[in-house]
Amino acid sequence: MQTVTTTSSDRRATLSLFTRLRSAQGQDDPFPIYAALRSLGPVAPAPWGGHLVTGFDLCDRILRSPAWLEPDRRWREKQGPRTRWSAPSAREISSTLPALNPPDHSRVRQAAGTFDRSTIQGIAPTVTRVTDRLLDTLADRLRDGEADFAAVVAEELPVATIGTWLGLPEADWPRLRELTHDQVFTQELLPTASQLARSDAAMAELRAYFLDLVRDRRARPGDDPISGWITRWDALESDQDKADEGVYFLALFFLLAALETTATLLATMVLRLVEEPDRWDLVADNPDLAPAFVEETLRHDAPTHVISRVAAHDCALNGLEIRADDMVHLMVGAAHRDPDRHPDPDRFDLRRKPAHLAFSAGIHYCLGAPLARMEADTLLRRLVTRLPRLTLVRRPTMAPRRVVFRRLLNLDVALA
Ligand code: HEM
Repeated sequence: MQTVTTTSSDRRATLSLFTRLRSAQGQDDPFPIYAALRSLGPVAPAPWGGHLVTGFDLCDRILRSPAWLEPDRRWREKQGPRTRWSAPSAREISSTLPALNPPDHSRVRQAAGTFDRSTIQGIAPTVTRVTDRLLDTLADRLRDGEADFAAVVAEELPVATIGTWLGLPEADWPRLRELTHDQVFTQELLPTASQLARSDAAMAELRAYFLDLVRDRRARPGDDPISGWITRWDALESDQDKADEGVYFLALFFLLAALETTATLLATMVLRLVEEPDRWDLVADNPDLAPAFVEETLRHDAPTHVISRVAAHDCALNGLEIRADDMVHLMVGAAHRDPDRHPDPDRFDLRRKPAHLAFSAGIHYCLGAPLARMEADTLLRRLVTRLPRLTLVRRPTMAPRRVVFRRLLNLDVALA
């Protein structure tokens, strides 16, 4: 096997790029930094160990290959007691669906079920009703001047959708949303100690909340997904406490997975719509462009820019020697701009049929993709149909020091 080793100058170059990436300017526009990263080759050394993959085809291949695994509980325990992987919130995440490998993953994914066509059709009226109510509020605010689309609409629709679907009391939604924003750091690439402490506190509160909820649904089952998961877990697990724990991890992860990611998709999509007057007019005249608009948003600036995997065995990756358990960070935000896959990649172009990895690929492909797409499609169509053209008041501020999860802190718009 021919292998090459990376040099310390490569590591210094990536370190300086990551420092730039985590600056306010880097958060606002990470794409020139991704281009510089890509110029180091489709695989570059990560300064903290492991590798960064920026080539689209390589990211796609790794996600679909059984030779690459999720960093699961076994892997996390091997990293030692004083690492980020041993934080209480990281241990909690290690029992959720995306941190499992086969055969456990296959079992739990089957218990989770899918958002098939009839489930989506069942949720659609709620999404339309909530979207219309939120757009009414936005229209009211716009009468007095500018309004923050992120706060008024993008943050609200996902929590109302998933909250209604799971049957969570509306009074709990604001707190649950706040907790999902706090827990995200434990899934970030380079969390600080204080960010991890926020995630730990949020996760402890979420655990107490959802374990209570599961016990309550067991006592009073209804026609809701949590009651359905209890039935399915009882068929898999004879110990009722273990079954309840399995249901808790599903409910927890569905909430965590569904809120910030979808809010970012909705806000980014509307940013693309309002930053160019022609785009609004184009979609208003042709609302059936909505699916293409959603997919191009997911390619152009996805809510999740990094997905990580570890090697199942020693192997070679693009000529680099990789040891079993080495980690690779698939820089999907960069891979989406790989010119070998997408010509003129920085251009937002509705004529593409963009292949993207925003929802991952392979066995961990996002279970909620049909729901996120339906929310985005509904919002875009209702927005351009019900409101006159909106314009961007100022560039939004991005949440600071992130690498994996994009988040717009505001999206200030006004009537054009
Ligand atoms: C735009 C919104 C969303 C984005 C960008 C997104 C992204 C992702 C990504 C990248 C993964 C795979 C992680 C990996 O390969 O390690 C994933 C997994 C998952 N997502 Fe989503 N997601 C979104 C919305 C949702 C929603 C709305 C739900 C549920 C209602 C959801 C539920 C899940 C679940 C359960 C998994 C785990 C699948 C598995 O490991 O088998 N996601 N998502």
